[in-house]
Amino acid sequence: MKKYLVIGNPINHSRSPELHNYWLKRNNISGVYSKEKLEEKDLKNFFLRIKNKEIHGANVTVPFKKDVISYLDELSFESQSTQSVNTIYLDKDKIIGHNTDIEGFELSIQEIDYNVTKKKILILGAGGVVPSIIFALTKMKAANIILSNRTKSKAENLKKLFKNLTLVEWGKIPDFDMVINATSIGLDKKDQLDLDFSGCGKDKLFYDVIYNPQETIFLKTGKKLGNRIENGKRMFIYQAAKSFKIWHGVSPEIDKKVIEILNK
Ligand code: ATR
Repeated sequence: MKKYLVIGNPINHSRSPELHNYWLKRNNISGVYSKEKLEEKDLKNFFLRIKNKEIHGANVTVPFKKDVISYLDELSFESQSTQSVNTIYLDKDKIIGHNTDIEGFELSIQEIDYNVTKKKILILGAGGVVPSIIFALTKMKAANIILSNRTKSKAENLKKLFKNLTLVEWGKIPDFDMVINATSIGLDKKDQLDLDFSGCGKDKLFYDVIYNPQETIFLKTGKKLGNRIENGKRMFIYQAAKSFKIWHGVSPEIDKKVIEILNK
């Protein structure tokens, strides 16, 4: 039976196994998808298992999206541009890295009919998923992409990769049309950002990459202030669906059960 994996650290929270195993079953594909918590020192052996075809495909999550690059034979244009890989597959004997987070984000925005063209977008955070969001927003022709991160050096590193970024100090909230929480604050229900959105006006879009909990304090705050909100559920589902398509050649259906799995 073919074996697929998601690797990361921590990994316990990941819903990818439930989602992929459901889709494998629905499509009558023989295979199993599981999760593995790795340390950086384990990466070499992990790639040997892929080379030896003990593992047939993998998703990569925080903190390894960049670290895996040195082990890959080839990178897609998207993963090269973002220096971020979330999907690994074998093409003959070559191990290829691709990034489906970009499409995941893009499709999630399309599905809610939000037009980012000419909009000012504020991104909070500079972690694993942020390069993909910047790439997608640039592709979708956002007018201005502003980024703020608690640790300034990480924001500056992103600016080296994306010259179109505007950086602002952590704590300052510039004028925006859409604000994206891409920090890990909110994963724990009680955690909240030390930022004040009270002066931001209303009818903006508050988007949180986090989907569990479904409504972080960031989203609750946005809603209370009269804004539209969206969590990371759609982005997660679409990135997974795109990985599934790469490995199995089938676009899986996003049905009620999929939503149930994520709402658990
Ligand atoms: P990684 O940085 O390993 O890729 P991540 O979960 O993708 O992990 O990113 C964590 C993000 O949440 C970072 O932007 C981090 O900010 P720092 O770069 O300053 O660490 C942000 N973050 C985590 N805790 C935070 C806090 N208490 N306040 C503000 N930002 C925080």
